[in-house]
Amino acid sequence: MAKVKTIYSCTECGASAPKWQGQCPGCGVWNTLVETVAEPVASSNSRFAALGGTAKLQTLSEIEAREEDRLPTGVSEFDRALGGGLVAGGVVLIGGDPGIGKSTLLLQALAELSGANHVLYVSGEESGQQIAMRARRLSLDTKNLKLLAEINLEKILATLQSERPQVAVIDSIQTLWSDQLSSAPGSVAQVRECAAQLTRLAKQTGITVILVGHVTKEGSLAGPRVLEHIVDTVLYFEGDTHSSFRLIRAVKNRYGAVNEIGVFAMTDKGLKGVNNPSALFLSQHGQDVPGSCVLVTQEGTRPLLVEIQALVDQSHGNARRLTVGLEAQRLAMLLAVLHRHAGVVCFDQDVFVNAVGGVKITEPAADLAVLLAIVSSLKNRPLPAKLIVFGEVGLAGEIRPAPRGQERLREAAKLGFTRAMIPEANKPKQPIAGIEVIAVRRVEEAVERLRELD
Ligand code: TYD
Ligand code: MG
Repeated sequence: MAKVKTIYSCTECGASAPKWQGQCPGCGVWNTLVETVAEPVASSNSRFAALGGTAKLQTLSEIEAREEDRLPTGVSEFDRALGGGLVAGGVVLIGGDPGIGKSTLLLQALAELSGANHVLYVSGEESGQQIAMRARRLSLDTKNLKLLAEINLEKILATLQSERPQVAVIDSIQTLWSDQLSSAPGSVAQVRECAAQLTRLAKQTGITVILVGHVTKEGSLAGPRVLEHIVDTVLYFEGDTHSSFRLIRAVKNRYGAVNEIGVFAMTDKGLKGVNNPSALFLSQHGQDVPGSCVLVTQEGTRPLLVEIQALVDQSHGNARRLTVGLEAQRLAMLLAVLHRHAGVVCFDQDVFVNAVGGVKITEPAADLAVLLAIVSSLKNRPLPAKLIVFGEVGLAGEIRPAPRGQERLREAAKLGFTRAMIPEANKPKQPIAGIEVIAVRRVEEAVERLRELD
């Protein structure tokens, strides 16, 4: 094939240069030039035609708005994260650390789908033999599961064109290379070009494409967020590789709600869905320990109970602040609020905070639980037994309400918790059976009330 001309264009401002250079000639930012194909493979006209079909103008009300048909994968927790199933022509990106279970999940999903649908698994990472062995170990029915071990984009596109599967998995986007670019597989230029071409094909043909993406050390998908813009749905696999639980979370979904999560356990027979995960992230202590506080967090439509652990220890030198599964910046802010408004001093202490079970918590409603865990560790006094906590803490020391407070309380009551320290604004009008509510307005009040409880 004739070599296509490539240029280097800036990811920040779009300026282009004929050769690679460290600094963008347009905006002067460093390290932003990436290789791109100079002339698009398809002419711009045919590209627009592919996306829009006809170019006739319509008003929105004329367009028939119907729900996309969903193709459930048969792996129910995966479908939940997808918002009900796969959509024809949709492009899904699944990111996650190596070894977390991306290939396993997709192999299971494709095997389920292959019963009634035409599916294709493209692997650039493992050989056919390795995949076949895994499928056998998982006792999957693979009679109709087609496999292509290939990393050349043009060959993959040609196969997809001729085979026309309903669903195709590309494992992984970082191993693909297009012969139109000279950069190495996995480089930003290659990843972007390959994803764009596959997306174009998906839109043209209605094939659902699932891309596997590796996460860089910094935790983002390689190809600085370029992929997230191109695709329709972005799912992330989370979880501690040392524990068997895995979460799959939608961070972008053009066809459904985000922050819906699917919960799995990794077993010797692959990933198994966990239907009732609310008590998964509680560690089982024989007795109450200082520095531990149970938070009710809300993930999509489901409340989850997560144990927050804090360790506060005399610092030698610079005081350290470290979080696992929670935002580090937020911890610094909470410590400042605790000092200013409740008079609890931590500047000469190392503070470590951990969300048990490898779950990542991003909602601010975790604030109060983090704060109480810190106070408990500092005073070396366990929090009252059977207590759950949620609520956001503001800079003025106020405690703000969390969404869906009632649901959180009900879930906690169901799991046998008897007391809840929550924002005043979340206090239910009707008492909830089995749970005593301690409603607080301010941080100092929360710390004070803690002292009164046993
Ligand atoms: P894999 O799907 O290969 O991860 P990824 O594609 O995200 O890199 O998962 C591999 C890990 O899962 C590996 O550490 C072994 C574990 N595993 C099990 O525990 N049970 C199983 O049945 C399978 C297939 C894998
Ligand atoms: Mg893999």
